[in-house]
Amino acid sequence: MSLSSFFIGPVEVKPLFILAPMSGVTSRSFRRLIHRENGNALGLTVTEFISVEALTRNNKRSLEMLDFRDEPRPISVQIFGYDLDRLQRAAELVEENGADILDLNCGCPVPKVVKRGGGCELMRQPEHLAKVLTTLKKTVKIPLTIKIRLGWDEKHKNALEIAKLAQGCGVDMLCLHGRTKVQLYSGEADRDIVNTLVKNLTIPIVANGDIVNLGSAQDYLSRGAQGLMIGRGALVNPWVFVDLQRQMSGQSPLAHSKQDVCRVVCDYSKFLLEEMPEKGALGRMKQLVGQATKGLRDSTKLRQLLCRSQSLEEMIDHLHRWSAAKESEENYVKS
Ligand SMILES: Cc1cc2nc3c(=O)[nH]c(=O)nc-3n(C[C@H](O)[C@H](O)[C@H](O)COP(=O)(O)O)c2cc1C
Repeated sequence: MSLSSFFIGPVEVKPLFILAPMSGVTSRSFRRLIHRENGNALGLTVTEFISVEALTRNNKRSLEMLDFRDEPRPISVQIFGYDLDRLQRAAELVEENGADILDLNCGCPVPKVVKRGGGCELMRQPEHLAKVLTTLKKTVKIPLTIKIRLGWDEKHKNALEIAKLAQGCGVDMLCLHGRTKVQLYSGEADRDIVNTLVKNLTIPIVANGDIVNLGSAQDYLSRGAQGLMIGRGALVNPWVFVDLQRQMSGQSPLAHSKQDVCRVVCDYSKFLLEEMPEKGALGRMKQLVGQATKGLRDSTKLRQLLCRSQSLEEMIDHLHRWSAAKESEENYVKS
C-alpha cells in the first residue's frame, strides 16, 4: 500500500501520519522528541488541548502552550470550551500565533470538561455546535478541523450526524476516535464507522484509535481514511511513524535496542527540563518509560525502580544501568 499525502484546506499533510493531541503528554518536549526520532515520517502534530476559558483569561500556562515558534510545520492547535465568545477570541489568538490549523475538541470525555459544555458534550448539542463552527469558520482564515468520538454512549452514536453538520459548516477535516464517551478507552475502537463517514462525506476523514502497527494502519486505510492519527502508540513506540512509513514502503521496521530507548528517554528529560520544573518532568518521564520499555527484558524491575525515583538524576542512573546490562546486545522490534 503506497504512502500518500492529503490536504486539509491548503495545508498538505505529508505523509498522512498525525501525532494525536494528548493532554499532559504532547507538549513541546514530546513533539520535539517525536519529530526528531521520526524525521519526515510525521505529517502533522497537534498540541495538547487548550482551555478557551483559561486562554482568554491570559492564564500563563495556556499562553505558553501557544509557543511553537521553532517547531517543524504544519502544526495544529486544539482548543476546547463551550462559550461562543471565548471560543472566538481563543481562535483569533491561535491564528495570530501562527498555527497552521485550528482544531476544536468535540471528543473529550473527562467530567471536568463535559460538565462545562466542552469536549464530547458538544456532540449532544448539535445546534450550539453549528453556531460554534460557523463562528469559528468566519473568525479564522486557517483551516478548521474537529475531533469527535463515535457518540455519547451505545444508544447515542451520532458521529455521522455531527460529521455532516460539521461539513455543512465548512469544517475542513474531521478526525474520528471510534469509541463513545462512556467507553472512555475501554473495548476496541469501532472501525466500521470510518467506512460510513467516508461514504457520506467529501472532507478528509482521519482515523484514530488503537493504531499501533502495520495491520491496524492498513485496515483503517482500506476503509478510506485519508489520514492516521496515533496517540498512545507513540508512547509505547516513539518510532511508530518511521516504522510504519518503512513498512508501508516495503521495508522492515528498524530494530530498536535497549540503548535506543535509554537515549530517547534521557534526551526527553533534557527537553522537559527546558520546559518545566524537575517535579513535572519526573512525572512525564515515568509516563514515557512506563510505556516505552514495555515488553523489554528486565523492564518490570526498571519501572518499579523508576516509579520510586525522587530525582531525574536517580532515574537516569537506573536507566543507564538497565541499558548496560548483559542482554543489551539484543535488539528488538516494537510490534
Ligand atoms: C493521556 C491522554 C490525553 C489525551 N488528551 C487529549 C486531548 O487533549 N485532546 C484530544 O482530542 N484527545 C486527547 N486524548 C485522546 C487521544 O487523542 C486519542 O483520541 C485516543 O488516545 C485514541 O487514540 P490512540 O489509541 O492512538 O491513543 C488523550 C488521550 C490520552 C491517553
